Amino acid sequence: MKLLKKISLGIIIVLIAMQFFSPTKNISAGNHTAVFIEETNPSPELKKIFETSCYNCHSNNTEYPWYNNIAPISYLLADHVKEGKEHLNFSEWENYSIDKKDHLLEEIEEEVVNGNMPLSQYTLFHKDSELTANEEVKLVEWVRQTRIIYQLGKQPN
Ligand code: HEC
Repeated sequence: MKLLKKISLGIIIVLIAMQFFSPTKNISAGNHTAVFIEETNPSPELKKIFETSCYNCHSNNTEYPWYNNIAPISYLLADHVKEGKEHLNFSEWENYSIDKKDHLLEEIEEEVVNGNMPLSQYTLFHKDSELTANEEVKLVEWVRQTRIIYQLGKQPN
């Protein structure tokens, strides 16, 4: 019992100490996804979906919820953002090759249609970020049209 008390106290102290530290925030001013929007020309409806459901983890600007002020939640969120951006960053669209853009669009369709994205840990707290069946159809249509443009734009080897 005594040992258990010591362990609990230890955990509480660590949790309190953690509150004094927080990971660097992912924040960018300005229109950081302008190139992506201009190139791929999503409808206003799809644009809104990206803003609500994807940019928080896949762009250079995250809108943080209040509970991000609590460690270790802040670290878990920072990790999602870091990993999400490594795979796909809508704010860095101009730096991807045409092949990469084409491939990422294919992945976007796959991840959304298979229900992997947005992450379930995210939709749990952001109910409005889940895509309806109708929104999915529109996303898939946009992916296919945009991929054709990239494929036509490919340079012959
Ligand atoms: C809560 C954070 C979060 C949100 C919101 C989110 N993602 Fe992700 N996404 C991740 C993480 C983390 C990974 C990498 C690990 C994995 O695949 O689970 C990832 C991976 C991906 C990949 C895979 C890329 C590859 O190279 O395989 C695609 C595509 C993707 N996300 C698209 C989306 C789209 C589209 C949305 C919005 C509809 C979205 N994500 C919303 C965190 C997120």
